[in-house]
Amino acid sequence: MTSEKHAECPVQAGFDPLSPAFLADPFAVLGSLPRDVPVFYAPSIDYYVVTRYADIEAVFLDPETYSAATAQLPLARLVPEASQILLAGGHKPQPSMVSLDPPAHARLRSPTARAFTPRRVAEMEPQVRRTVNQLLGTVDLDAPFDLVSTLTFPLPATIIFSFVGIPESDWAQIKQWGGHRAALAWGRSTPEEQVDHARNLAAYRSYLRDLVAKKAGARGDDFASALLEIHDENPEGLTHDEIGSILYSLTFAGHETTNYLIGNVVRRLLEDPARWDLIVSDPGLIPGAVLETLRYDPSVPVWRRVTKRAVTLGGVDLPEGAKLFLWLAASGRDASVFAEPEKFDMQRTSAAKTLAFGKGIHYCLGASLGKLETQIAVEILAQRFPRLRLIGEQRLSFHPNISFRGPQALWVRAER
Ligand code: HEM
Repeated sequence: MTSEKHAECPVQAGFDPLSPAFLADPFAVLGSLPRDVPVFYAPSIDYYVVTRYADIEAVFLDPETYSAATAQLPLARLVPEASQILLAGGHKPQPSMVSLDPPAHARLRSPTARAFTPRRVAEMEPQVRRTVNQLLGTVDLDAPFDLVSTLTFPLPATIIFSFVGIPESDWAQIKQWGGHRAALAWGRSTPEEQVDHARNLAAYRSYLRDLVAKKAGARGDDFASALLEIHDENPEGLTHDEIGSILYSLTFAGHETTNYLIGNVVRRLLEDPARWDLIVSDPGLIPGAVLETLRYDPSVPVWRRVTKRAVTLGGVDLPEGAKLFLWLAASGRDASVFAEPEKFDMQRTSAAKTLAFGKGIHYCLGASLGKLETQIAVEILAQRFPRLRLIGEQRLSFHPNISFRGPQALWVRAER
C-alpha cells in the first residue's frame, strides 16, 4: 500500500506481531506504543491494528460494516499452487462459520447452537474430571514435568474429539492437521510450507466429509450425530457438506484455544506462589482466576475483520477493504474499562467484560465448555498438587502465529 493511502492514519513501521520480541512479550510491545494512538497501520502485515476496548467492541457489534471474511485468511499471501490445492479440496476462501457474514453465517451457526446444548456441555463434566485425573495420575512426584504435554494439550483434544464423535484412533491425525491450519492462516509460511499445509488441509476436509458419510449410516450419541438428526428434518436446510464444515470449526476451535488458556491460567497463578496458595485454600476463586486470565493474558489475543465500506474508527478514516487486526489482548489492558490493568487480580469483578471470546453474532460457541475444562483442570491440579511450583529459569516459547497464544511447554514440580 502507498504512504498516501495512509496519510490520515498513524503508521508503526516496526510493529511485527511475528517478530521474536513480540512473540516473547507482546505486552512489552504494547507498553512501548504511544498511548494516544488507538488505531495504526502495520506495514509488516498490511493490517490496521485496533487496540481500544470500545473500538473493538464496536467492530464486533457491527457486522454490516465489518465483515468476518478475514478471520481465517492466510496472513501471508498464498502462492497459486497452495490456493489451487485448497480450492480443489473444497476449502473456500471463507472456510467456515467464523469467517461468514449474515445470512450465510446463520445457516451454520443455528444448527450448531441447537446441537451444542447446555445439557450436552454439562454432561461433559464427569468426563473432564475423569480425563484430568487420568492424565495427572501419570505424574512422577519426584521429577519436574511439563504441564503442557501432560495435561493442557491432551485434555481439550480428548474432550472435543470425543464430544464431536471422532474415533480415538484418528485423534493424533486431527491434532496434526490443526497445526497445519494454525500455521497457514495465522502464521507466516514460506511457499513450500504453504503447499504442504494446503495438502494437509485438503486431506482434513476430505476426512471430515467421509466421517459425516459414515456417521450418517451409524449414528452415536455425539455432536456429529445430533447435526445429522437436524439434517434429517430438512436436508436442504443443513447439508452433509455443511456438517463437515461445522466439524471443521469445532475440531480446531475446541482444542488450541483451551490448551493455551489452561497454560496461561496456571502460568499466571504459579508466577506468584501466593496466588496459587490462595487458590488451594479457596477453590471458589478459580472461576474468577480464569476470567482474569482471559482479560490479562488471553489465549486468543487477536481476531480479524475487514471493512465493507469506508468508515471512521478510533478517529482514523479507513477505506473499504481495510483489514483489521483486533488486538483483544490490548483491549484487556484498557484502563478506561479495567482499573489498574497491569495488576492480575483474580477477584476483579469487571474481568467478565473481557472480549476474549468475541462479542455479537460470532460470540464463541464453546465459551462455557472452554471455561469448564479450564476450571476443572485447575481445581484438580490444586487438590492433587497443593505445593505446585514453576521450575525457575525456564524460557517460555510460543507458537509463531498471531491468534493462538500460550506456553508450548510449562515445566513445574509437584513438591510433596
Ligand atoms: C477456551 C478458550 C476459547 C477462546 C478464548 C475462544 C475464543 C473465540 C473467539 C475470539 C471467537 C471469535 C468471536 C468473534 O468473531 O466475535 C470464537 C468463535 C468460536 N469459537 Fe471459541 N474460543 C474458545 C474455546 C472454544 C471451544 C472449546 C469451542 C468449541 C467447543 C469453540 C468454538 C467456537 C466456534 C464454533 C466459534 C465460531 C462462532 C461463530 O462464528 O458464530 N471455542 N472463539
